Amino acid sequence: MSWTTPEDHPDPILARRFGARLRGRWGRPLYALGSTPSTQTVLHRLAADGAPEGTVVVADHQTRGRGRYGRSWVASPGRALLASILLRPALPPPRLGEIGLAAAVAAADALETTAGVAVRIKWPNDLLVGSKKVAGILAEAALEGAGGGYVALGVGINVSQGPEEFPSELRGRATSLALAGGRPVGREALLAALLAELEVRYRTLSTEGFPPIREAWLARAVLGQRVVYGGGEGVAVDLAPDGGLIVRNGDGRLTTIVSGEVG
Ligand code: BTN
Repeated sequence: MSWTTPEDHPDPILARRFGARLRGRWGRPLYALGSTPSTQTVLHRLAADGAPEGTVVVADHQTRGRGRYGRSWVASPGRALLASILLRPALPPPRLGEIGLAAAVAAADALETTAGVAVRIKWPNDLLVGSKKVAGILAEAALEGAGGGYVALGVGINVSQGPEEFPSELRGRATSLALAGGRPVGREALLAALLAELEVRYRTLSTEGFPPIREAWLARAVLGQRVVYGGGEGVAVDLAPDGGLIVRNGDGRLTTIVSGEVG
């Protein structure tokens, strides 16, 4: 089966540029596209065909980039790191959500070490600089495929967009590393740092379990803020041992939110 469709445009020069910076195990193989509907779609195709853990798909541009909750993810060509990483965790399905939280910690570390910006995490895995979102993570799990179950971990990092490049409804809430005053950093260096941090946190998750990831997540967490969720509203106060968000409601009761959108 081919890993591309007529809508995908492989770019061997881009593949060499990204590949040249990688030092660890992950990113081998690496597939690079000038344009694609979504790196997630390409990665799902490769995963279903038995691709190994650590396979990475990057693109300069996505025509139908996906965000969480069925939203779209829009970025001007060449201005964002758009990557999907294939994981084959030996975790039971109820624990797969821990991967998105571990990825948020890894991405935050990568942004800080490369661009020098202070990053905080809004549950479960939005990366903020100040109060604006600089990166998002989409973890899509599949329980079947030629190589068994897998997680397609999609990461979108806004690198060099100007304010006018964000859709008008997002302008007050989105930022890029450049707009946030970060040190100039290329997408290749960013991907290399992201994969290196991700390998470390992923290994920790499989050898030591979720507690150290929870600690690292909490050290960067946006807590104490009002949140609105499906069943009501309250103040985010803690991360539960299973990765849910603990919210204190108006009457003082604690509720744990395990999935769904938090505004
Ligand atoms: C979010 O809603 O915050 C998650 C956004 C994830 C976007 C990335 S960009 C690379 C990968 N391909 C996609 O279509 N989505 C993810």
